[in-house]
This record gives sequence, structure tokens and C-alpha cells, in this order.
Amino acid sequence: MDQPGAVDSLLQEDRVFRPLPGLVMEANVNPQELAAAYQQAAHDPEAFWETAALELEWFKRWGKVLDESQAPFCKWFTGAKCNIVHNALDRHIKTGNKHRLALIWEGEPGDIRKFTYFELYRAVNRLAGALRSLGVAKGDRVVIYMPSLPETVIAMLACAKIGAVHCMVFAGFTGRALKDRLRDARPKCLITADGFYRNGRVVALKAALDEALHDDRDAVDVCVVVRRANLEVEMNPDRDVWYDDIVRHEKPEAHTEVMDSEDPLFLLYTSGTTGSPRGIVHSHGGYMVGVHHTLTWVFDIKPTDIVWCTADPGWITGHSYVVYAPLLAGTTTLLYEGHPLYPQADRMWHITAKHGVSVLYTTPTTVRMLMRYGSQFPRQHDLASLRLLGSVGEPFNPEAWVWFYQTIGRGECPVMDTWWQTETGQIMLAPMPVGLLKPGSVSKPLPGIEADVVDRAGNPVPPHKGGLLVIRRPWPGMMRNVWNDPAAFRAYFEKIPGVYLAGDVARRDEDGYFWMQGRADEVINIAGHRLGTAELESALVSHRSVAEAAVIGVPDKIKGEIAKAFVTLRDGFEESEELGKELKDHMRRELGPVAELKSVKFRADLPKTKSGKILRRLLKAEELGTDPGDVSMLDEE
Ligand code: WT7
Repeated sequence: MDQPGAVDSLLQEDRVFRPLPGLVMEANVNPQELAAAYQQAAHDPEAFWETAALELEWFKRWGKVLDESQAPFCKWFTGAKCNIVHNALDRHIKTGNKHRLALIWEGEPGDIRKFTYFELYRAVNRLAGALRSLGVAKGDRVVIYMPSLPETVIAMLACAKIGAVHCMVFAGFTGRALKDRLRDARPKCLITADGFYRNGRVVALKAALDEALHDDRDAVDVCVVVRRANLEVEMNPDRDVWYDDIVRHEKPEAHTEVMDSEDPLFLLYTSGTTGSPRGIVHSHGGYMVGVHHTLTWVFDIKPTDIVWCTADPGWITGHSYVVYAPLLAGTTTLLYEGHPLYPQADRMWHITAKHGVSVLYTTPTTVRMLMRYGSQFPRQHDLASLRLLGSVGEPFNPEAWVWFYQTIGRGECPVMDTWWQTETGQIMLAPMPVGLLKPGSVSKPLPGIEADVVDRAGNPVPPHKGGLLVIRRPWPGMMRNVWNDPAAFRAYFEKIPGVYLAGDVARRDEDGYFWMQGRADEVINIAGHRLGTAELESALVSHRSVAEAAVIGVPDKIKGEIAKAFVTLRDGFEESEELGKELKDHMRRELGPVAELKSVKFRADLPKTKSGKILRRLLKAEELGTDPGDVSMLDEE
């Protein structure tokens, strides 16, 4: 029977990797505990999350773990009082963590700054005091328009400490994109930097801000400027102050605001690959539990780890797994300012070796880019400190996964392919370090997460059939609202009544492993076969010449749609008509005759969002000569 919205699956991936015995023996959660957790969480999810919440400190305990009476507006840990910064910093100062490294920062030119928990705590307190002196109070929004600097982390934590709601705007956004976000968030204060280093150049950030605000000089009352690149900047005497000047005379102690568990911690705009930006709202209590729990479980975090999540703090991955979760866990987080290929393609391996990174969490885009340069760069460095690898953001093509596992992880470090979203706040589907790994699969929903694959009517689809990924139960890190737009929030739960619709296509195999197939609005329909972009692209990437691939559907009179591919080649391969033909044949061999490619176009690069996702929509508009729509998320680098 054909189900509405079901998606066909063609790719067969049979490789399986087992964890090494040493890792299993020392894991935070061993196989027996994991099995018990799955059982307990399925039977009593609230008790499961309550146990996770008890790992952290609260000023006052909750009445109820979960209140669904206003669903889909759910409340977690009702009546509880807390502050995420109390757990991320204050509590560590009273323990052996006090003089442990909290943050290692490396600038693109090679300058290094390190902060112990005590040093970070004091820096945050000074800025918290300064923000209070500037009139910023609980509930006020503060827009942080910053590159990857220690002060960015300090600013986020200082806001949270005083109960202000931070709103990071990625430093790659300018003009309209920045203005729209400012207009929606209405911040009391803005924090920015004079400039920063990226790919060997200095980017003038304060100037970009001034330009965006030139016809709207009163958009904010105060603008705090961090000095990073020693640029000449124009300081508006009525509005702009230097960071150094305002923190200099502040005390290194500051009161941590007592927050309600449900009080907003931050808003963060997401536009993904489509649509207009929505300000996703996250809370203090539930978010802190969700990110702390998932980091310690999925990445098996030990206090001695050095965690390098390569995301910019301006994205949700940066919020959750560069800043909050590692500090909540009392481990060391690493932040790098610059471009991964600067000054050459070994920068990431250089940083990993120099600082002894043990957990490396990055994206498929980054891996494919590095793979393109071959294995001679990683071979020049000692990567023995690595013990776990991770990925997020896009479907991870099996070929790229295996390269990452073998070449970077020596075949010893499990690769955690984690599925989640800005909206989910925390990792939702992922392998566990002691589990079996299948390259290209995100494994299963974590304990406490109930995910399903359904058709458009909400009925579960059988194994091997693709469908819509939905989440059936609330989880602590879930978004609480969309800023100024509760209808947009509700829409996530109303398209299929009663469940959270993620907007992604997935399929399950016979073991219950989930395989992500791409975004639902990018599914291609060839002669009645609905195919996700991920499988088609992975089949291309499995050819030895291909570094990256994007496949789009274009209208066709006979077949409904036909598939067109755009590929970039690995170093050492030349584009040619024969290679194009070879790729078409390769695709047919890998996936069967339905997966017929109408054409293959070679490109030097694929258009990507600023967070590294392939922008198929743009390729499609280019191909069809139609309006590409909003392109503010396009990465011009
Ligand atoms: C979208 C969310 C949350 C982290 C970064 C992105 C895609 C994310 C995976 C994965 C396949 C993935 C989905 C999702 N995505 N992780 N492991 N496998 N696809 O956050 O910008 O909110 O994007 O990224 O399409 O819906 P985001």
C-alpha cells in the first residue's frame, strides 16, 4: 500500500563497527546501564529526566517534573528555582574544579588564551556587574554580535547570570539580516567587537554594525565594544563603550540571579535553509538538564577531557556544546577563532595535537572539505589524544563517515552522528559510545526521547520506508516558544496533531536504527518514487572522485521530476564528460535504475548556508531561472 508522504529508500549500507573493549569498560554508561535506562525511560520518562536533573544544583526543587496542561506549551521542573550559570561556574569554584581549565581559546593568528574556572568566573562576574551598572536587568534582551572570542562566552554567561536573555547573532550576518533580528529582539544592550581574524583577513565587525544601524541610531541604548583586532572604530559617545573600560573597576564577585526554571535563557534565530528567521526561545531549567545530560552520555565526558566542538558560538551547537554543556560538566572546552583551512589544510590537526583534544565534534561539511585534501595532512600530526568523534548538521555520507573514523579516529574512536535542531536544544537521536555504529545512521532516539517515522496522516511507516520524523513526547531542552510569534511555535505541533514535526525525512532499518534522508521539502519525486536527497548524494560521494554532491529535482513532463547533480571533485581529479558519464553509471549501479541522473555539473564549490548546510534551493533557482528568495543565509566565503 502506498502511504501519503512515504519516501522510498535505495541505499544499502551494511558496514557495522563495534566499540573497543577499553572504551566499554570505562564508559560513563555501560551496556547494562544503558539497557536499563532505555527501559526506565520508556516506562517512566519523567522519573528518568528527574534523575538527570538531580545531577545539577537547584536553589529550590520542583513541584512537577513536567506540566503538559497548556500543551504544546510545556513546562519542565515547575516551581523550581535555578540559574544555569550557578551550575556552569559558581558551583565549580567551591570544588576541585576551581583551578581546572574551563576554556582554551586559540586565535587565527595563533595567539592563545586560557581560563581556569576561577578566572572565567571572575571575568563573568565583572561583566555581570558592568551590565547591571549599565541598567541591564532580568528579562532584558542583550544582542551579542560577536565572533568566536573568550569574551563571547563571557558575555553569554554574564547575561544569564543576571537573568538577561541573550540573543547571539552570528558575526557573518550583516545589513538586513542583522537589522531584522535587532528589530524583533528589541535589545537593551548590544555587545560586539571591533573586528576579528578570518582566513587571513581582518573583518571589521563594528563597522558592519554601524552600517546596519546608520538610519536607526537609537536601535539600542548601549553598545559594548570588545577590542580584538586593534581596529580604528568610530565610537558614538552617546551609545558606545569599550568593554575594557566598563569591566576594569567592577568587583570579581556578582550575585547570581535566582531564576524560575521556565524563565527564558536565550533566544536564537534560526532560518535553516528556508523561510524567515524565527527567534527560538530556550529556558534556564530544562535546557540545562537537557544539554548536560546529553553531553555526558553521548560523548562520555570525563573531567580530564578537552572538548572541541568546532561550531561558532552563534549557532545552537555552539550554545549547547561549546559553551553550556562542557562547563556544566566541569570539563574543558576549546574555542578557535578562525578558518579551518588557515593557513593551510592541517590547522584542525595542528590544534588537536597541540592542545590534546580528546573529543572532536564537527560537521559533515567540514569532514568532506578536509577529505578533499586527502590524508597527508592529518598524517603529519599526532592525533592520539582523540577518543571520541562527533558530527551534526547534515546527513553524514557513509564514505565521509568512514574516512573520519579511519583517518582521524585511527579506527578506534566511535563517531557519534547526532541529530537535533535549534528547536530541540539538545541532542535527540544519537549512538551511545558502547553501542554498535553503522556509518550514515544516527542510531536511535536517546533514552527519554520518543521518536517515530510517520506518513503525512501521522501513521507509522514500516521499516525501510522513509517518512516524516516526529517526536512524540516533550523533552526538557525543547524550545518554549517562538519570540513574538506563538502561532509559529504551535505550527510545529499542529501539522500532525499532538506530535512535534521536525521537517526531516528519515527511515528505520530492521534494527530500529534511524537514517536521515534530508529535509522534507527537498524530497525528489521521480516517476512516483519519492527519494530523499541524502541517499542520492551519498551514492555520489562514494565515488572516489567526488568530494561533495548536491542533488535537486527539476520538473519533467514525463517523470514528474528528474534528478540533477552538482558535484565538487577531490584533489587530483579533473572534470570531463567521461567522468560525468561515469558518475551517472555509478549512481545507477549503487541505487538502481530509478536513481537516474539527468545531468552532472561540476563546480568548484557548492552554495552553503553560513552554518555549512548545502543550499539546494539556490541551485534549483539557478537551474530553473526562478527567484531564489531570501539569500541572507548564504555563506559568501
Ligand atoms: C537541521 C537542524 C542542531 C545542530 C545543528 C543544526 C539537519 C542536524 C543532523 C544529522 C542529518 C541533520 C536536519 C535538522 N541535521 N543534524 N545528524 N543528520 N541531518 O541546527 O540549524 O537548527 O538545523 O539540521 O535537517 O532539521 P539547525
